[in-house]
Amino acid sequence: SKTLRIAVIPGDGIGTEVMPYGLACVKAAAKIYDISLEFEEFDFASCAYYQKHGKMLPDDWKETLSKFDALYFGAVGLPEVVPDHVSLWGSLLQFRREFDQYINLRPCRLMPGVRCPLANRKPGDIDFWIVRENTEGEYSSIGGTMFPGTERETVIQETVMTRIGVDRVLKYAFDLAQSRPKKHLTSATKSNGISITMPYWDSRVEAMSPSYSDVKVDKFHIDILTAHFVQRPQHFDVVVGSNLFGDILSDLGPACTGTIGIAPSGNINPTGKFPSLFEPVHGSAPDIMGKGIANPVGMIWAGQMMLEHFGYKEAAAHMLKSVENVLARGEDSVVTADMGGHGNTKSFGDAVEQEILKGKQ
Ligand code: NAD
Ligand code: IPM
Ligand code: MN
Repeated sequence: SKTLRIAVIPGDGIGTEVMPYGLACVKAAAKIYDISLEFEEFDFASCAYYQKHGKMLPDDWKETLSKFDALYFGAVGLPEVVPDHVSLWGSLLQFRREFDQYINLRPCRLMPGVRCPLANRKPGDIDFWIVRENTEGEYSSIGGTMFPGTERETVIQETVMTRIGVDRVLKYAFDLAQSRPKKHLTSATKSNGISITMPYWDSRVEAMSPSYSDVKVDKFHIDILTAHFVQRPQHFDVVVGSNLFGDILSDLGPACTGTIGIAPSGNINPTGKFPSLFEPVHGSAPDIMGKGIANPVGMIWAGQMMLEHFGYKEAAAHMLKSVENVLARGEDSVVTADMGGHGNTKSFGDAVEQEILKGKQ
């Protein structure tokens, strides 16, 4: 089979700490399943690169990265060094836009052995996908500041929804829901208060719904939806939301399953025209960086999503099962602090790698 080329971009903070374990686990799965992968690492899209070059990316980044089949990405941002909007709009958000990665796919799953902050929940009770719009919506560069520094100071940032942009993320979410046993799609809205864009979003959901007559659709305003995530997470199967709503829900969901440290994310260009990007949901975590205690599961699971994306279903299933096996054993000296143990990035990352290398079960 063809060699798949992967651009490795560790970024900042714990991104650089979890990346080696993500890579080790992907390589272990590739070894067992005889998948040919080639990796090339880049130092850009980091605040260290910015300090050296005055920008987050080299001018030819798009040409360079277009040659890869996927990007495996850690995390970006060190607000003490570079303002967050500069580092993120100069890197990750460029990738998402320029590579038209219009789907941000994020699982929320209560894993075996992980202590759940919600009462009386067991694995199986929380198992849903968030499909987040990833290229427009509230994340828009349209707007500006008028009369800066005066009493009349006025700051505006527009929300953008295009028919193509809304319909394509809804279609992906409907398709995903249709492929699952529960066939249930929940749409996040706020059409009571955000009176132009959100009613538009709702109208596109209604327009598409008849083409998926077997998919049960409901919608909730984002405020009560956050409450339902906490109080009845078993209700959800596939949840679709705008860029900002999806962002918020995809920290809340994983937190409800124990820790945001386990959650992965696929920034997908379903057309295949550009590479997709796989990363943990979490950021660079400056508060714990340098300590070697970051949970590597989000990074490893992102690698698992990358193999799944390439079509290596068995290898991906094996990787996820291996993560679950290590979590289920719950050894205190292996499990990281955010999951209640006394282990570290290395103890957990090594354990998953070894579990994968045990081979096909
Ligand atoms: P964060 O996700 O970095 O951290 C939030 C909290 O969760 C922190 O207390 C952190 O220690 C903890 N945490 C996160 N990942 C963990 C892990 N793997 N193991 C254990 N604990 C973990 O979010 P933040 O503090 O809002 O942002 C920090 C920086 O990261 C900012 O610069 C922000 O812009 C950036 N950020 C980047 C991405 C990305 O690159 N995709 C995502 C989110 C935030
Ligand atoms: C995420 C992050 C990014 C986002 C930030 C760092 C710009 O929070 O991937 O969830 O808001 O999309
Ligand atoms: Mn986020």
